Amino acid sequence: MSLNLEQDYIFTNTTADSELVRLQLIEEIFDPATFAQLKKMGLSQGNTCLEVGAGAGSVMRWICDRVGETGQVVAVDLDPRFISGTELPNLEIRQGDICAMDLEPNRYDLIHLRYVLVHVQDYNKAIANLVQALKPGGKILIEEPDFLDQAPAAVEDASKFAVMDRMFKGVLKLHQVLQVNSAIARQMPSLLQQHGLQNVSAAAAQKLAPGGSKMARMMKMSLSHIAEKLIKAGTVSAQDVEIFLQEQDNPRTWVLYYSTIAAWGTKGALKPNAR
Ligand SMILES: C[S@@+](CC[C@H](N)C(=O)[O-])C[C@H]1O[C@@H](n2cnc3c(N)ncnc32)[C@H](O)[C@@H]1O
Repeated sequence: MSLNLEQDYIFTNTTADSELVRLQLIEEIFDPATFAQLKKMGLSQGNTCLEVGAGAGSVMRWICDRVGETGQVVAVDLDPRFISGTELPNLEIRQGDICAMDLEPNRYDLIHLRYVLVHVQDYNKAIANLVQALKPGGKILIEEPDFLDQAPAAVEDASKFAVMDRMFKGVLKLHQVLQVNSAIARQMPSLLQQHGLQNVSAAAAQKLAPGGSKMARMMKMSLSHIAEKLIKAGTVSAQDVEIFLQEQDNPRTWVLYYSTIAAWGTKGALKPNAR
């Protein structure tokens, strides 16, 4: 099997139009929960914030609005092509890899990432870079997908249940081949503790949705983008992929999709000799 392991971000080769639609669907589905959590964490006027992997930019724009003209937002992305609404006076866009880019030490009141570290092989390096950039007392919120519990729930044509199940197992197999940590989301609270964060908490939310829903449409796009890689990874056939994608349009087929795990914590005060 020859899969390119050097290509870190799995959606790199998707066509621009369809990737933008996929990113916007992610925003429509998941922004309400993200915004509610950011509000609970006390994001307020005048804060300096970092949005990592800004995607199509809705969270970045929302944070710009919340922090107001006295606040500042830096949005970074490996591929900033899809970020829109960038003409905001309190916004700076930077292109770069979160593992390698220079971030100002002790600058940010709040750092947010959603569905980014799952794509980053050296996520410990990325977390260390982010933590050093947090102000003492600053907060970080990391939301990642947990793929370990995905399963068909009720498939209209029961004979297709096994195919759907194979597809989700195929995703885990592909992660193994690409050296993606499928369990990163559930490990995130512990990772934050290992990186020295305090008051670490977490919450998980799983989507149960029918074919034709926004979730099913987004998953259909995601899985069709990676279909070739899934087939090469060896667990599913082209026919399996076709059946799975068709079922994403079937309103009488329900799927338990990935969970989103949000983990957050606070950076402690600097030790006197570190000032
Ligand atoms: C699945 S999208 C999520 C977009 C957005 N965070 C959201 O949830 O709506 C992942 C984003 O992370 C970016 N990304 C992937 N690897 C990255 C890295 N190493 N450093 C910075 N950004 C990265 C991608 O370009 C993409 O915009």
